[in-house]
Order: sequence, then structure tokens, then C-alpha cells
Amino acid sequence: MTNNKFKIENRESQIENQITDLLDPDKIKANLKTKRIGGKILVYDSTSSTNDIAAEYAKNKQNDGMVIFAEEQIAGRGRVGNKWLSGRGDSILCSIVLIENKLNAELLSLTCAVVVAETIGRTGGSRAKIKWPNDIMLNGKKVAGILLESKVDKGCNACIIGIGINCHQKKDSFSVQIQPAATSLDMESNSVSDRILLAKRLLTSIDQWLETAEKNGDKVIDRWRELSIQLSHRVTLLFNGTSFTGHCIGIDPEEGLIIQLDTGGVRMFNAAHTIVAKPPA
Ligand code: BTN
Repeated sequence: MTNNKFKIENRESQIENQITDLLDPDKIKANLKTKRIGGKILVYDSTSSTNDIAAEYAKNKQNDGMVIFAEEQIAGRGRVGNKWLSGRGDSILCSIVLIENKLNAELLSLTCAVVVAETIGRTGGSRAKIKWPNDIMLNGKKVAGILLESKVDKGCNACIIGIGINCHQKKDSFSVQIQPAATSLDMESNSVSDRILLAKRLLTSIDQWLETAEKNGDKVIDRWRELSIQLSHRVTLLFNGTSFTGHCIGIDPEEGLIIQLDTGGVRMFNAAHTIVAKPPA
């Protein structure tokens, strides 16, 4: 009896742990109508960080637009030295190689945020929004993050766009500390998201928005303004360790977030050196 119960429970947990939307390069590539992104797609079952793998491929100019996915990362990283944790098969974990990227760091960062927010789109009745610089939020909780890293190797100037989107996580997939602030597509929609479909949407969107950004950065800014949760709101930022509070009045494609400071004056904050803090109570 006890044995049978164990077998049933064990089988149930195996079924539960089965990944039904395994990332498959051929499925992602099927009917993918992109010009620059996704000509080469690799999927790792497990790796340290897709950004590390992408950085190796970025040494060869022919790998512009290449995309690395992984089912699991054992040393996934986020911004400002944070770890990026995800159970195997739970997320979209990917890195895109851009060689000789023409966009400045701020505009590229804004473009990527627009891409990921649009890819997630409307989920469970709510629209994905951008929390500057690189957090994508659903119902006030973080559902995705972006980590941009640049690499210079023997005169070859590359940029790696690392994207993590929470898909199949349940509440207790997240640590107790981050549970109040994190969510997944499945949690918000009460259904099971399809990572293949999502991957296709992501690559199509980045292909189109990069082209748009190179031709006309204002279009990115306009879309960013529609998707921002901070624009016209109060924010507190930590810049090089100093705290600044004020009203967010805009975004500059070269200098970053524009804040009307409580202490007077207007100041711009770039994504690389700024952390968004909770506003004081
Ligand atoms: C953040 O919100 O702090 C950024 C998170 C970025 C996570 C992705 S997952 C794929 C890629 N590989 C990494 O190690 N990090 C990025």
C-alpha cells in the first residue's frame, strides 16, 4: 500500500516536472520571418549563463544576430550583481549577439525593454509594463528582466542582450523573499504559456524594433512612454550610492531617465549607474 502510494506520487511528480514546451531550435525557426536575428539558434539543456556562451560566439563577426537559449542556467546573473534563478524549463532564458551595434547604450536598453514588454503583451487581462531601466512588470510584479553586456575582443565590438522571462513558475518556485515582488506568465494568466511561441514573438519583435531604432529612435521613445510605469510618477533613484527623489518627467535616448528633483533642478540618470529604490514612505 505504502509502496503503491509512493509510486503514484512519484509518477505524478514526474508528470508535473515534464517540460511540455521544450525549446527546440527547429520549432523556433519554423516560419520565423526575421532579417537579422535568429539565423543561428542554439539551445543548451544546461549552461552557466547564456550571456557567457553568447560572449564566446560574439568573437566572430559572422555570428551577428545569433541567439542562445538554455533550459537551465547554473550561474544566471542579473543586473547590479544579482543572481538570476530559474528552475529547469520554467523560463525563456536567452542571449542575443549583436556585433557592431549602431545604437548607444541608453537607446538599446529602451529598445530591449519595449521588445520584451510587447512580447509579453496582454496577459491575463493586464498589459506588461516597463519599470526603467530593464524590469518588465505584470500587475506590479516583475515577470522579466534584461541584462545588457558589451564585449570588445580584438577590435570586434559586440553587445550581448540577455533576457529572462518567467513562464511556468508557481508562487513557491520563487524564494520567500522575492515572492511578493515576482510573478510568471502562468501565474498571471491562470493557464500554461507556450515558450516556443513566446520565443518566436521575442525574436520577431527584436528584429523589427532594432531596425526601427536604427532608423528613427523617436519611435522607440514614443512606445517606451506608453509602456512606462514611472513616467509622470515619483521615483527614488540611487546613483553611485547617493539617493535622489523626484518626479519622472521624461526619458532621453542618450542620457537616460529625466527627473524633476524634489531638491530643485532637473537631472538625468543613466541606466548603467542607477538603481531604482522604493520611494520613501
Ligand atoms: C535583471 O533583471 O536583473 C536581468 C536578468 C537577466 C537574466 C537573463 S537570463 C538569460 C541571460 N543570462 C544571464 O545570466 N542573465 C540573462
